[in-house]
Amino acid sequence: MLPFVSPTSAALPTGGDDLLPLKGRLHKYLVDVLENERTPVETWSRSTLRRYVEQVTRDYVERDHIPLNQKEIDRLIDELIDELIGFGPIQPLVDDDTVSDILVNGANRVYVERRGKLEETGIRFMDDRHVLRIIQRIIAPLGRRLDESSPMVDARLPDGSRVNAIIPPLAIDGPCLSIRKFRKEPLTAGDLLAYRSLNEEMLEYLRDAVMGRKSILVSGGTGAGKTTLLNVLSRFIPHDERLVTIEDAAELSLDHPHVVRLETRPPSQEGRGEVTARDLLRNALRMRPDRIILGEVRGSEVMEMLQAMNTGHAGSMATIHANTPRDALSRLELLAGFAGFGGREESLREWIASAIDLVVQVSRMSDGKRKVVQIEEVKGYVDGKILLQEVFRYDPKEKRFVRNPVASMSRSAAEARERSGSYAL
Ligand SMILES: Nc1ncnc2c1ncn2[C@@H]1O[C@H](COP(=O)(O)OP(=O)(O)OP(=O)(O)O)[C@@H](O)[C@H]1O
Ligand SMILES: [Mg+2]
Repeated sequence: MLPFVSPTSAALPTGGDDLLPLKGRLHKYLVDVLENERTPVETWSRSTLRRYVEQVTRDYVERDHIPLNQKEIDRLIDELIDELIGFGPIQPLVDDDTVSDILVNGANRVYVERRGKLEETGIRFMDDRHVLRIIQRIIAPLGRRLDESSPMVDARLPDGSRVNAIIPPLAIDGPCLSIRKFRKEPLTAGDLLAYRSLNEEMLEYLRDAVMGRKSILVSGGTGAGKTTLLNVLSRFIPHDERLVTIEDAAELSLDHPHVVRLETRPPSQEGRGEVTARDLLRNALRMRPDRIILGEVRGSEVMEMLQAMNTGHAGSMATIHANTPRDALSRLELLAGFAGFGGREESLREWIASAIDLVVQVSRMSDGKRKVVQIEEVKGYVDGKILLQEVFRYDPKEKRFVRNPVASMSRSAAEARERSGSYAL
């Protein structure tokens, strides 16, 4: 049975000549009618809904002699359907494959990121309530709620895209929505070369490191391309090894025959049932992994990660939020301290130095391009210091990648140089 209400069963809104207010009025009218329907509109087929919206819109446009041509009416119908079951005014951005991020700052500012560049779109919501309604629509099917008592939410859409929403009073200028779209086809090593995010020599070096079971930390700021690089590196892992991945939101796409993917779980609305990255890491260690790929190390799981890297799971990898390789190691120290590491500072540093082999720093440059800006080897631990040696770096003035000419020197020579202070932590 068609869940059908005659459009004439509720008073039709009165006309106007501008499309935005017209859409607003029609939408309000449609919502009023549809809310009284026994079957929720989300369960209607798209064609039923389209027929219904089409009929209401045509009646309305004809009755009030609104001068719209066929194309405008079709657009209006599409937009009304997006309002009713889609993402409202940002639906075209969701459908646009060149858009990687959608950022809504209140009703009147909608930005997108395309090819690394932020652009304002000119798209407007009717008002903040409209933004809020669309946010609620997006998160409701995910079983998440957003209101004054829980005014922020971080969730993942069924297609893997990441959604964050934060509303007043925390967001002072209106409800904000950020969507990081999931790429159906993840960037490959070839793409990174084509984008000049690194050069062939660096890629070869990194591939050898992964195949040689070096434990790697990919470090960088927000949106710098950490997860993307981790994904590219993980794809170099030989196919006869068993991998376990641990992420807050499964973003990695490894194309590997033997991978177990684990995802953390936030606490329920009553605050129960949380499963942390640390819980999953502990469990993963009992699953006989050859390597563990940790989406991001940012809490107490640092302890199990270091332990894994030091005890038979060399070649494990993770990302970390830090601005330089040195900061990345300091941050590991800090996280281990917070996690209750009981030993001396020196033993912690030594432990970190023996766990991590390589730190790869990625950065989003001022022109929006992502680059591997440093690759540093952890050379060891001497006199209370972790020794780092730069192998590659990006020179922003010369706009090229540079290999450190002394990087191939022997370990003892490297250590002597480190001890001279130029690279010491
Ligand atoms: N080398 C690159 N060239 C072009 N675009 C890239 C590159 N690396 C990543 N991107 C794009 O940049 C965006 C952010 O990438 P990614 O998710 O890897 O960053 P991140 O550092 O892990 O972010 P977060 O801090 O949110 O975890 C994505 O849209 C991704 O497709
Ligand atoms: Mg990431």
